[in-house]
Amino acid sequence: MKKFEEVQNERLLLDAPFVKEMMETTYNMWRFGWDERNGGNISYLLKEEEVSPYIDTNQVLRTIPLDFPVVELANMFFIVTGSGKYFKNVRSNPADCLAIIKVNDDGNSADLLWGLEGDGVPTSELSAHFRSHITRLDKDPNHRVIMHNHATNIIAMTFTHQLNEKNFSKTLWTMCTECIVVFPEGVAILPWMVPGTDEIGKETAKKMTDYRLVIWPHHGIFGAGQSIDEAFGLIETAEKAAQIYMLVNSHQGGMKQAITDQELIELAQVFGVEPNSEFL
Ligand code: 13P
Ligand code: ZN
Repeated sequence: MKKFEEVQNERLLLDAPFVKEMMETTYNMWRFGWDERNGGNISYLLKEEEVSPYIDTNQVLRTIPLDFPVVELANMFFIVTGSGKYFKNVRSNPADCLAIIKVNDDGNSADLLWGLEGDGVPTSELSAHFRSHITRLDKDPNHRVIMHNHATNIIAMTFTHQLNEKNFSKTLWTMCTECIVVFPEGVAILPWMVPGTDEIGKETAKKMTDYRLVIWPHHGIFGAGQSIDEAFGLIETAEKAAQIYMLVNSHQGGMKQAITDQELIELAQVFGVEPNSEFL
């Protein structure tokens, strides 16, 4: 049985904006059909001053070893989804499905400060998340979120479209007028790899040097952003373009007209973005 004080503290934490965001976002991702069962994971870098009004940051529930060293993230706080947790259920049971963790000084373990009540562990894709955070923080000090899911049409497109970053990116850009404005750098694509390993984590993070979207063929997508909204919006936009690609390609008559290269260039100019020069 939980003590009265524990229950009060837990209720307080559920009002923390970052917990609310995680609850809302995981539910929306599930509703979109991108996160069946436990598919997908999110990690969100938090500032100590955001966390400390809600929990005692010195009270460690248990220490979780990390199989990969992330000393670059030492003493940083994250809220992450738990491994095997259903996105559908995060909203109704956040203390079981989520965790607030702090990476230790040496980067070899993380302290659990809240959540994962049933002895759970953070997402099995923590290597891809943490290594990608390191890469993105190097590029952008305001970076905060890594998000992975099984976006339906992106996965479908990895079966029917060439797996070539230039062609894939260009196809996505030409499926919706504003795609090139949202991800002017295009999308990266890994070869098919076994998920949940440090190898796929390292390769994903390498791609994050130049891209904020990384596709795992026949599996899903990773997005990075300065906020949950930004990471979600990137994936949402790429997924919408992929959906249109799949719709157009299933149409018997095929494509009758398309956005041209010249129009993509005009868009980039007017919106002040620099498209990947290797792609356009
Ligand atoms: P986790 O439940 O461990 O987060 O794994 C889900 C997933 O999508 C693996 O790629
Ligand atoms: Zn996955």
